[in-house]
Amino acid sequence: MQDQATKRSSRNPSSGGMRSVAISTPYIFHQLDVMDPASVASLLDFIKKQFGNLDILVNNAGVIGAIIVQETRENLKLGIDEVVGSKTKMLKEILKEVYEQSEACLGTNYYGVKHAKKALLPLLQKSNSARLVNVSSLMSHERAKEELGDVNGLTEEKVDEVVKGFLKDVKECLPESKGWPTNFSAYMVSKAALNAYTRILANTYPNIAINAVCPGFVKTDINYNCGIATVEESAKDPVILALMPDGGTSDIFYSCMEVSTF
Ligand SMILES: NC(=O)c1ccc[n+]([C@@H]2O[C@H](COP(=O)([O-])OP(=O)(O)OC[C@H]3O[C@@H](n4cnc5c(N)ncnc54)[C@H](OP(=O)(O)O)[C@@H]3O)[C@@H](O)[C@H]2O)c1
Repeated sequence: MQDQATKRSSRNPSSGGMRSVAISTPYIFHQLDVMDPASVASLLDFIKKQFGNLDILVNNAGVIGAIIVQETRENLKLGIDEVVGSKTKMLKEILKEVYEQSEACLGTNYYGVKHAKKALLPLLQKSNSARLVNVSSLMSHERAKEELGDVNGLTEEKVDEVVKGFLKDVKECLPESKGWPTNFSAYMVSKAALNAYTRILANTYPNIAINAVCPGFVKTDINYNCGIATVEESAKDPVILALMPDGGTSDIFYSCMEVSTF
C-alpha cells in the first residue's frame, strides 16, 4: 500500500506541537488500489472499524505513464536536458506513450487522489489536526501552467476539463501539435493537475493542513532508477508536512522544503 493512512499516536490525540510517533505501535497495512473504487471503499471500511478517524493522508501512489524499451535502459539518463531540454528528441525516440498508459497515469496520479480524498475526507474531518499531503512533482509544463496557473479562478471542474482535453488530444494523437509536453506528457499534466487540485482542496477545507510536495529526483522504479536522492533522503519532506505542528501552512507546493510555484 502506498497511500498510507497513518494513525497518530493515541497517547497524543490533540497536542499542539510536533507530534510524537509511537515507535512501539505496530504498523498495520491494508492493500489499496486507488483506481479501484471497491479497494478504496475497503480501505475506508477498515480505517473506520480500526480507528474511527484519520489524522494523516499521504497520497503517494504514482505511475509515469510511459515505457522505455528494455534494450535502451542501460546508461539511460533522465535529466532536465533529456526530459525538456536539448536532448528531448533523443528521449522521445525511445519513449513509448500510448493512450492506455496516459489514461492510467491520470487515473492514478490525479483521479486516484480525488477518489481517496472523497472516500476518506469524512474521517479526516473527525480529526482535531488533520494533514493531507499530495506527493507531486516539479515536472510541470508551460501549457498546463497557463491553463491552471490562475490560482483565484481555479475550480475542480476546470482541472477536470484540462485533464479530459489532454486525454482527448492523446487519443487523437495530437498532444505535441496541441502544445502538450514532448516527453512524459501524461505525467506532467497529472502532476500539474494535482498541484492545482491541492490548492482547491486547501481553500475548500481550511480546517485541514493540505499541501503538495516534490520529493526531489529520487532513485526509484518510476524513473528506472535514474534519480539522484535516496528514498530515505526524499521521504523526509512529505513526513515533515505530515507531522507539521498545528497552525502550519496549507495550500503550498514545496520542492526540497522550499515554497515553489506550480
Ligand atoms: N522518484 C522521483 O524522482 C519522483 C520525483 C517527483 C515525484 N515523485 C512521486 O513520488 C511518488 C512515489 O513514487 P516513487 O518515486 O517512489 O516511484 P515508485 O517506486 O515507482 O513507487 C510508486 C508507487 O505507487 C504505487 N502505485 C502505483 N499505482 C497504484 C495504484 N493504482 N494504487 C495504489 N498504489 C499504486 C506503486 O505500488 P506497486 O509497487 O504496488 O505497484 C508503487 O509502490 C509518486 O507520486 C511520484 O510521482 C517521484
